[in-house]
Amino acid sequence: MPSYRLTRVSEMVEVTTQERQGEMTLHAGILTNLQPRKLASVIACAVALWGGVTGAIQAADVIDFKKQIRPIFKERCYDCHGPKKQESGLRLDKRQEAMAGGNTGLAIVPGDTASGLLLKYVQSEDAELVMPAKGDRLTRKQIELLKKWIEEGAKWPE
Ligand code: HEC
Repeated sequence: MPSYRLTRVSEMVEVTTQERQGEMTLHAGILTNLQPRKLASVIACAVALWGGVTGAIQAADVIDFKKQIRPIFKERCYDCHGPKKQESGLRLDKRQEAMAGGNTGLAIVPGDTASGLLLKYVQSEDAELVMPAKGDRLTRKQIELLKKWIEEGAKWPE
């Protein structure tokens, strides 16, 4: 049986997610002079751990339309852009209509946060223009979510 001699394996992985505003730091320590069987199980364990960590972050990273975006539209936009009223021809409760935009133009351009009226209006400093047209502005967090969602391709499972 070959004799493995691993003198030093040191890994440090740092992952920061803006979403969580936290840091996860994983230190896989220093392994020295391990027997092959023991080493194999340590490696398997590290791989499993690493898979778990990256999986969790990817899942947290992708915006979930139903959980994170639709509630914003529902609470703050449907009154005027929903089933009953479509101010300026814009409807935000159905994917196809939402993607078609309103009388002025496209509201959502998947993957492009610079175009599209939705982001422009929710961020507007102009009181005449800002959406929602009634009540408080959207929070910074809500605007970030909308931006990220559009950046990720505005996925809208119905
Ligand atoms: C109280 C009613 C009201 C609410 C609530 C409201 N809007 Fe509007 N919205 C309007 C009116 C009226 C217009 C058309 C006049 C204008 O552009 O100011 C409009 C226009 C728009 C347009 C431009 C459509 C076009 O092509 O002309 C967008 C985009 C938009 N709203 C997004 C939103 C979003 C996103 C929300 C929720 C965060 C929202 N609005 C909530 C009343 C509302």
